[in-house]
Amino acid sequence: MKIWAVSNQKGGVGKTTTVVSLAGLLSSWGFRVLLVDLDPHGSLSSYFGLDPDGIKASVYNLFHDASQKKAIKTEAYIRKTKFENISILPASTAIATLDRQVASMGGMGLVVSNALKKVSSQYDYVIIDSPPMLGVLMSNALAACQHLLIPTLAEFLALKGLERMLHTFDMVFHSRKVKPACTIIPTMFDKRTRAARESLVALKSAYPDKVWVGYIPVDTKIRDASQAGVPVSLFVKNSKAADAYAELLETLLQDDIDHDRKMA
Ligand SMILES: Nc1ncnc2c1ncn2[C@@H]1O[C@H](COP(=O)(O)OP(=O)(O)O)[C@@H](O)[C@H]1O
Ligand SMILES: [Mg+2]
Repeated sequence: MKIWAVSNQKGGVGKTTTVVSLAGLLSSWGFRVLLVDLDPHGSLSSYFGLDPDGIKASVYNLFHDASQKKAIKTEAYIRKTKFENISILPASTAIATLDRQVASMGGMGLVVSNALKKVSSQYDYVIIDSPPMLGVLMSNALAACQHLLIPTLAEFLALKGLERMLHTFDMVFHSRKVKPACTIIPTMFDKRTRAARESLVALKSAYPDKVWVGYIPVDTKIRDASQAGVPVSLFVKNSKAADAYAELLETLLQDDIDHDRKMA
């Protein structure tokens, strides 16, 4: 089982869209996928028709079990979605209070990682959607993942934020023996605007080893698919964004193979 985390401290950069789009593709390529919603907004959960305000079993329970020193009943909190091979561990709005509740307890940084170990034979890929702020939830996402995906807008202002964020992530990863792989994904790219094209060049020259060679284009079908609550590749046959996500996925799968070979 591989664990990917999709993170960026900025909202509206395509995190949730990236999680859902990759999940749709992985599932139709025959992989068993578990999605984990660590964002208190619960957009990922809502995408699959779950209401984060009314949900009973959620990520919250993982932390509750751990804080009570009980065995974490991961399986009990996971639900199947209506899509074959896609399950979800949803967010409830209550997880917004976790920072305050568990900060004083300590030792809560590996709750998600430990919870996922219990279901490692049941899924091929886990994709975690992260909250925009660095707190206990984001730390858990960063600690659990083997591959960090950072969706980024091609804007000059985004570049500055990215620099700060990569620095923060490096500090968080400092204590990890094996550092996760990291891929920056240019999203909502509009090739017709010169500012976007120039920013993409700047992004690639600033992080030549980290930026994915392609980009996810702006595509109205993403919004239509999101309204319908369906991953874009399962929603329409011809979507430029879905094609780009498929290319991205091929790269990510190959990266993981290369990474495993290096470790062996
Ligand atoms: N490639 C794209 N083309 C057009 N709209 C997109 C694209 N990717 C995301 N969006 C839209 O942009 C908004 C923000 O995306 P979202 O994935 O929710 O970002 P985040 O999770 O980082 O806050 C959503 O309304 C989404 O439908
Ligand atoms: Mg989101």
